[in-house]
Amino acid sequence: MIGLSPIQIGFDAVTGALSPATGQYRKRLSDLEGVFRNGDAWSRAVKENADPLVYEVNEYKKDGSDLFFGTTTMQPGKVGDEYYMTRGHFHVRRDMGEFYCTQHGSGLLLLQNRDGKSETIEMREGTCAFIPPDWAHRSINTGCVPLVFTWFCNVLAGHDYAAIATRGMRMLAVERRGKFELVPNPNFQ
Ligand SMILES: [Fe+2]
Repeated sequence: MIGLSPIQIGFDAVTGALSPATGQYRKRLSDLEGVFRNGDAWSRAVKENADPLVYEVNEYKKDGSDLFFGTTTMQPGKVGDEYYMTRGHFHVRRDMGEFYCTQHGSGLLLLQNRDGKSETIEMREGTCAFIPPDWAHRSINTGCVPLVFTWFCNVLAGHDYAAIATRGMRMLAVERRGKFELVPNPNFQ
């Protein structure tokens, strides 16, 4: 790309704040209807906890660049026995992957290909995960502190949330006897 200048962007590994940032969005629990298996527990948690913040995304995108990056900061919490998670998405562009690099906290990256094959990568400080093209991905905070990761992606990749919203993911991350466990999703189609 011609005409772009190098630039340094600061990021806070504990809060996920970027300086400068070019965009930000937040997802509260009410935005995640249908994501958690237990709909009653979800409604209760939205009401009783004043619609808590689940995750926040900060991004830096330079006009004219092919790449962009950002941070996702996920709060710890559960709905019923399921840990807080992102909605999960494929990329619109099936030929474009992504990297997730964990800066703070601990969690799980749940991956699923178009055939429904499921894989997981542990998210812990100092590790990066490669998400191959055409694998859906969802991050889950299985710890008790915020999970912060930086991601790097092509600006054209795009988000396709519909496939996971309709079909679900094969596996669920739940708490059993105070510990994280991966169990089959009874509603997976
Ligand atoms: Fe992605």
